[in-house]
Amino acid sequence: MTLLDIENLRVTFPVDGGPDVRAVDGVDLSVETGEIHGLVGESGSGKSVTARSIMRLLDGARVESDRFEYRGEDLYAKSEAEMRSIRGDDVGMVFQDSLSALNPVMTVGEQIAEVVRHHGDVDESAGLLSELRRKYVTGTSEDAPSWRRAVDLLETVGIPDPASVATTYPHQLSGGQRQRVMIAQALGGDPSLIVADEPTTALDVTVEAGILDELRRLCDEFGVSILLITHDLGVVAETCDSVTVMYSGSVMERGSTEQLFENPAHPYTEGLLRSVPEGGAVDGELTTIPGSAPDPTARPAGCPFRDRCPAAFEACSDPLPEHAVDEGHVARCHLYTEGDDPGEVTWDGATDVDGAATGVAGAADDPGTASPTEVTDG
Ligand SMILES: Nc1ncnc2c1ncn2[C@@H]1O[C@H](COP(=O)(O)OP(=O)(O)O)[C@@H](O)[C@H]1O
Ligand SMILES: [Mg+2]
Repeated sequence: MTLLDIENLRVTFPVDGGPDVRAVDGVDLSVETGEIHGLVGESGSGKSVTARSIMRLLDGARVESDRFEYRGEDLYAKSEAEMRSIRGDDVGMVFQDSLSALNPVMTVGEQIAEVVRHHGDVDESAGLLSELRRKYVTGTSEDAPSWRRAVDLLETVGIPDPASVATTYPHQLSGGQRQRVMIAQALGGDPSLIVADEPTTALDVTVEAGILDELRRLCDEFGVSILLITHDLGVVAETCDSVTVMYSGSVMERGSTEQLFENPAHPYTEGLLRSVPEGGAVDGELTTIPGSAPDPTARPAGCPFRDRCPAAFEACSDPLPEHAVDEGHVARCHLYTEGDDPGEVTWDGATDVDGAATGVAGAADDPGTASPTEVTDG
């Protein structure tokens, strides 16, 4: 069953004294119940804006779409009050920067207990006054059901000694533990969907692997669906069931993780894969796509990737097509509108990871800024 179903999403930021920024330019995205869906692309491709559109947290932006359904209901037809109960309850959110997302002056147990009470699973008087007293004066009693649930949730996300960790403040924890706290907090609302925006980008690889395992387990054991946003295809390979590849506000390709890794159809996906060790690296050599993404106010007509694409030809200035490679596997590339599968493209303009050009860098005027595995979210 489809949990989240978005068609032709366009998000535009009006800019004083300049052209509008079309951050998301016609994106289709769907998440099935019980799956982890990856949304992958280089920094600036519009992943976070897409994520925030799901929470309706895009103040000042114009959000348009042909369909924006969560559980079959139009999210953009909901009142602000209905949205408040969806946010944090039905849809949980986990961000990259746990230190600024968590409240520095509240214990982590208190922050999780608050979400649990707000969700209404436990029977504790939640009047505004008692909530404020609890928050600022007494703290939640350790016998209270919401506190016990908070400790359970910390245990669920793999935190050792959860009862004492619950009494600590965010700055006393490591980055990995804080990420787990945020996941526990998201779970406090008993969500159907967790939107996780680069949840492991700030962590080292071992800690990252632990968190990704945790997300996988929450999905498998508790049936939570997850939209996992990342700039790292390695994370997708490890964690996701299916994936949407974005570039400069548009979808380039989507399919199951298997389809994408075994039979990448879009030159952009092939380029990204060459930068992943377990991906299509040629002779074990990791390479990046030369050049950088266009300014969203000055995208070329047609395919936004065409200035960097080694296979670009005249048709690429026409609007993006939608080509079905296989069932559930779509490539938005003009190479396919000609008919046959064009096979792998040749990347003459490839650049070594260390930035040394090994060939003609095509239309790249700024090589070295676009390593898809290393660029972090700005
Ligand atoms: N509030 C805003 N005003 C203007 N432009 C924005 C705003 N937020 C994001 N953008 C632009 O939208 C594009 C996509 O941003 P984002 O979704 O954060 O990318 P990603 O998460 O994929 O790195 C970027 O070009 C960014 O500069
Ligand atoms: Mg982002």
